[in-house]
Amino acid sequence: MPYAHITGWGMAVPEPVLTNDDISKLVDTNDEWIRDRTGIRERRIARENEYPSTLGVAACIKALKVANLAPTDVDLIICTSSSPEYIFPATACLIQDQLGATKAGAFDLLAACTGFIFATNMAAQAIRSGSIKNALVVGTETLSRFVNWKDRNTCILFGDGAGAFVLQASDTPGGVYSAVMHSDGSGGDALSLPGGGARYPATEETVLEGKHYIQMDGKAVFRFATRVMASATKEALAAAKWKVEDLQWVVPHQANIRIIEAAARGLEMSMDRFVVNLERYGNTSTASIPIATVEAVEKGKIKPGDKIVFVGFGGGLTWGAMTAEWTGPIPTKHHVYPEPYRWFGRIRSLARRIWRYIEGFFNRREL
Ligand code: UT7
Repeated sequence: MPYAHITGWGMAVPEPVLTNDDISKLVDTNDEWIRDRTGIRERRIARENEYPSTLGVAACIKALKVANLAPTDVDLIICTSSSPEYIFPATACLIQDQLGATKAGAFDLLAACTGFIFATNMAAQAIRSGSIKNALVVGTETLSRFVNWKDRNTCILFGDGAGAFVLQASDTPGGVYSAVMHSDGSGGDALSLPGGGARYPATEETVLEGKHYIQMDGKAVFRFATRVMASATKEALAAAKWKVEDLQWVVPHQANIRIIEAAARGLEMSMDRFVVNLERYGNTSTASIPIATVEAVEKGKIKPGDKIVFVGFGGGLTWGAMTAEWTGPIPTKHHVYPEPYRWFGRIRSLARRIWRYIEGFFNRREL
C-alpha cells in the first residue's frame, strides 16, 4: 500500500491589514481586550477583486512549485472553505480551471474550520487506496464578506487567506499516518451561516435579519473546543501508535490562544511545541492549519523527519486530528514551472466557452 506524503505547501494572504485599533473604530472594543481574550493583533482582508478561488490558486501554485509537480499531473483537487465562492459550482472546480489542472477531479468538502483535516485525510486515503497518485488540498477563505462588522463577538476573530498541500504517493514510509474525524450536529447552531441555503434563501427579510452573516455562541464554541483539542490529538496519536513524547510539533487550528493553551495543558506539552501565528492572521478557518504549517516550514521550525499532529475544530460541530511525518518534496531530475499552465488553462477555458457558445448556436438552429 503506498504512503501519502506531503510534498508541497503554499500559502497566500491578501495584503490589506486590519488591526485591532482599526476594529475599535467600528465596534465598542479595544486592542487590549482582543489581545487578552484571543491573542489576535491583526488580520488580512481580501480586496474587492480577491476571492476564495484566486487566493486558493495562488496558494496551490506555490505548493506545486515546492512539490515540483505540473498542474496537469494532479489527479484530485479537494477545496475546503467556510466562505465558498458560490453554493455551486464548487470552488475546487474554479481552482481546477484556473490552474490548468486538466486531468483532476475537483470537489468541495464542507466541515467548517475542521475542513482542512478532513480534506487532507480524504486525499491521503485516496492515495493510500492506490486509486490516485497526486492530490491538491486547499483551504481558502474570504470570511470578511460574511462577517457582521457591527458584531463585536465575531468581527474581531476572522481573517482571509489560503493554504494548500500537495500529497503524493510513495513507497517510502512517511507522510500521513492516521486521522480521526468527529461530528456532533446537535451543536450546529453554535456556529453557523444560516442565510442563502435552501432553508433561508435570500430575501429582503433574511438580509434585514442578518442571516447572511456568521452567527456564533462564542462561549459554547470555546467550551467545546477546549474539550476536544486534546482528546482528538490523543486519539490520532493512539491510531498511529505514537506517544506525545514522539511529537516535535502540534499544528492547531488558529482560533484563540486560550484554546491552544488549554490543549497544551490537556496534553501536558509545552507551548513551544505548538505552532502559533494567529496574532497576525486571526482565524482563517479552513486555511489556518496550512498557513501555520507553511510559515513553520519556511522559518525552519518543521523539518524532514519531524512527527506532527494537525488538530482542529469548527462549526457542524466538527473536530479531528491527523498525524504525519514530514518528508518534503520527492526528488526528481526534471524541473517544473507551474505558472505557465495557468495561461494554458485560461486559453483552454476561453476556447471551451467559445466552443460551447458555437455548439449552442447550431443546436438552437437544428431544433
Ligand atoms: O473556528 C471556530 C471559531 N470560533 C471560536 O473559536 C470562538 C471561541 N470563543 C471565543 O474565542 C471567545 O468566546 C470569544 C473571544 C468570542 C469571547 O471571549 P470570552 O472571554 O468568552 O468573552 P465573553 O463572551 O465571556 O464576554 C466577556 C465580556 C462581556 O461583557 P460582560 O457581560 O462581562 O460585561 C462581553 O460583552 O466581554 C464583553 N465582550 C467584549 N468586550 C470588548 C465581548 N466581546 C467583546 C469585544 N470587546 N470584542
